[in-house]
Amino acid sequence: MGFPVLSEGKAEIETEGTMEDTLRLNLTIRTGQRALFLLESFSAKTPDDLYKRISQIDWEETIPEDGYFSVTSSVNNPTIKDSRFANVKCKDAVVDRIKEKRGRRPDTGPQRDRVVIHLYWRGYLCQVFLDTSGEPLSRRGYRMIPLKAPMQETLAAAVVLATGWTGNGNLISPMCGSGTIAIEAALIALGRAPGLLRSNYGFMHLKGFDESSWKTLRRKIRAEAKDRLNGGIIATDISQQAVEGAKKNAATAGVDRFIEFGVCDFSETPVPQGEGVVILNPEYGERMGEIEKLKETYKGIGDFFKKKCNGYTGYVFTGNLDLAKKTGLRTKRRIPFYNGPIECRLLEYDLYEGSRKR
Ligand SMILES: C[S@@+](CC[C@H](N)C(=O)[O-])C[C@H]1O[C@@H](n2cnc3c(N)ncnc32)[C@H](O)[C@@H]1O
Repeated sequence: MGFPVLSEGKAEIETEGTMEDTLRLNLTIRTGQRALFLLESFSAKTPDDLYKRISQIDWEETIPEDGYFSVTSSVNNPTIKDSRFANVKCKDAVVDRIKEKRGRRPDTGPQRDRVVIHLYWRGYLCQVFLDTSGEPLSRRGYRMIPLKAPMQETLAAAVVLATGWTGNGNLISPMCGSGTIAIEAALIALGRAPGLLRSNYGFMHLKGFDESSWKTLRRKIRAEAKDRLNGGIIATDISQQAVEGAKKNAATAGVDRFIEFGVCDFSETPVPQGEGVVILNPEYGERMGEIEKLKETYKGIGDFFKKKCNGYTGYVFTGNLDLAKKTGLRTKRRIPFYNGPIECRLLEYDLYEGSRKR
């Protein structure tokens, strides 16, 4: 996207830019959950230090007269047992500051659909951000019908990007569930910004938000998208209800005409001659009985890859590596991912003659 990478952590990237840049970030980033804009960084030992420093920030320049704000946080400080206490201290500092300047308290509460302040406090380092996304960016706005164990939209986009598929050749998603992988793949291949589907962001509620430059940016980014695909996208699931839901979600996302849907067992999914990627996200199973049944499913995935997907690259996204071994295939790559707190892997298999385990 052209932004400099100043530092990279396990779950974040630090860059630099203006508040205006956060509009483009929110619209176009596919894998990020939120774009946080740093207001102040300081050292705070105790909740009172925190209160004092936060009340020095000129919140009256950020939160409009009729504004509403909420506070989220990530806190790990020895003086705080319950992170909610840090939130309350932060909220009080903002409210008291605005009351002093305007003579009136702003509204606050847990809803994240307007101004969101994010507090990061680890050890003595305290950083105060505006969460310019508000609701997490995984909530694209197209998944009206979530089904069993859906994958977050940002995670599905990250999985597709990790396969390297950008629209050439086919992308096949058996076990498509609510269709997230297929929908994100279509958005990627068309170069459509995922944020165009959403109408509300945190930055829209900040004082000084310029609606007309936001509309201009949206129009410009919308115009950059393609309206044709080189390859094909096929999505199937054994559940009729899942496929109906996936179709509706794809229609809401405006990509239904680019995806061929079908109801069938994964092993019956049509795989056109040629090349591309096949991505499966089977259940991982939690209870013993489930795991026994899933062993057969994972073995079946190995057979499906071997028999029907010659020339393709196969992928299994799973949180259970023991089950993954049941495919009986040698992995070429194992890419680590976190699905919420669950450590997962995207396993890659080359599906050409000779790649199989003897
Ligand atoms: C973990 S969910 C996939 C979630 C999906 N990635 C999403 O974002 O919604 C697994 C899916 O596999 C489907 N499934 C289970 N066994 C199947 C089989 N034998 N053939 C095809 N689909 C199957 C289930 O109906 C379910 O939708």
